[in-house]
Amino acid sequence: MEMNALEAVGGIRIDGNRLWESLMELARIGGTDKGGVCRLALTDLDRQGRDLVCAWARELGCSVRVDAIGNIFMRRPGLRDDLPAVMTGSHIDTQPTGGKFDGNYGVLAGIEVLRTLAQRGIVTEAPLEVVVWTNEEGSRFVPVMMGSGVYAGAFTLAHALAATDRDGVSVDDALRSIGYAGPEPVKPRAAAAYFEAHIEQGPILEARGITIGAVQGALGQRWYDVAVTGQEAHAGPTPMALRRDALVTASRLVLEVNRIALDHAPHGRATVGCIDGFPNSRNVIPGRVALTVDLRAADDATLDSMSAALEKVCGELAESGRFDIERKEVVYFPPQPFEPRLVQAVRDGARMLGLDSLDVISGAGHDAVYMARVAPTAMIFVPCKDGISHNEIEDARPEHLEAGCNVLLHAMLRCCGRIQFPEGDPA
Ligand code: HGY
Ligand code: MN
Ligand code: MN
Repeated sequence: MEMNALEAVGGIRIDGNRLWESLMELARIGGTDKGGVCRLALTDLDRQGRDLVCAWARELGCSVRVDAIGNIFMRRPGLRDDLPAVMTGSHIDTQPTGGKFDGNYGVLAGIEVLRTLAQRGIVTEAPLEVVVWTNEEGSRFVPVMMGSGVYAGAFTLAHALAATDRDGVSVDDALRSIGYAGPEPVKPRAAAAYFEAHIEQGPILEARGITIGAVQGALGQRWYDVAVTGQEAHAGPTPMALRRDALVTASRLVLEVNRIALDHAPHGRATVGCIDGFPNSRNVIPGRVALTVDLRAADDATLDSMSAALEKVCGELAESGRFDIERKEVVYFPPQPFEPRLVQAVRDGARMLGLDSLDVISGAGHDAVYMARVAPTAMIFVPCKDGISHNEIEDARPEHLEAGCNVLLHAMLRCCGRIQFPEGDPA
C-alpha cells in the first residue's frame, strides 16, 4: 500500500524512552564523574562510540560506509535507492569537559528515526542516511567541523590529515590507530535534504518556554593562533621598567579581545579559550605566550571588522618591537543561512505535532554549516538546561529531546517521497 507521506504518517511518533536509553548508553563511553563526557576526536573512546553506533545501525539493516576522513554514513535503502538520500546526523566527539547531548543527540535522533520506521515496517521512496561527522569540536585537532569541512570542500583532505594535536599526533595517524581511515573518497553525494537535531547550547528557547528552534542559520567564525614573544628573565634582579613580560602583554590582549566583541554587539562573540605560558616557571618572567582567539559574528562585514580590530590591537601591543606578536588564521567560514524551504518544514513539523517553535540563529558552528554548501540544509534545536553546554553539567529534558526527534522524523518524511506501509497497517 503506498500513500502520500503527509497523510499516512501524521500519527507516527518516535520512542522517547528508547532515544533516552541510547543517549545514556553512549554517554557511558567517556563518562566523567561530574556526569559529563570526555570523548575527544579520534581517541579510543571515540572508536568505542563509533563502533556502538555502527552496531546499532547494522542491527537495523543499514549499510555502513566510512570515508577517508572517518565520516560514517549509515544508510537505510529506499524503494528507489537511486534517488538522492534524505540525510541527518551530527558528531559524537566531545569537548574535554563536554556533555551527554552536544552532537550525540543529533546522531542518536537519526538512529531513532530509523528504528521507528523499521519497527513499523515503513519503507520510504528515497534512501535515508544518518552521518557521524569526524572531529566536529575542533578541540583536539583544528580545523573545527573537520569531517564535514572536507566533505563539503571547505579545505582539502590532505590539510585535515596533516593536522596535529598538542602531542604532535596527526589526524592521519589517529584515524588509522582507531581503524576509521575509510576506503571511500571524501566527496559530496546528491542529497535531497540534510537535517541536524541539536541542543541549542544557549538560553533563548528555555527562557521563552519554547520547545523547538527553527534554525535560520549560524554565525560566521574566524579562529586564530596568536603567539606573544617577549624575553625570559629573572623574576628578582630584573627591574620592572626593563621587563618584556609576554604574559602581561598577552593579558592586555585578552581584555582587548573581549572589548572587540562588546564593540560589535549584539551578535559579536570573542573568546580566548587556550593560553600557554613559557617556560611556565614561577620565578622566570614569561618570555612567550601562545593563545587562541575565536571570533564570531552574524554577518561577514562585522566579522571582518572584528578581525581588523584584532590586527590593530596586536600592532599596538607589540609596542614598536618590544614584543613580537604573530597572528595566524586557522579557521574561517562566513555566516551560513539554511534552506528556507526546510526551515519551513521544521516549523510545519512542529505545528503538526502541537509544538511551538521560534526562529533562532545558531551561535555555535555545526556540521550543518558545511553541509549547507552541498545540500539543502536545516537544523532543529531543543532547549538545554540553563542554556549551558561545553560543560559537564550540560543537561536536557527527555520530553524536549523526544519532541525534537519527532520533528526530525516528520521533517525527513516530508522530503522522502512516497511511503510504503506493510499491508494492512492501520497507518
Ligand atoms: O565551536 C563551535 O561552535 C562548535 O561547538 N564546534
Ligand atoms: Mn555540536
Ligand atoms: Mn560543541
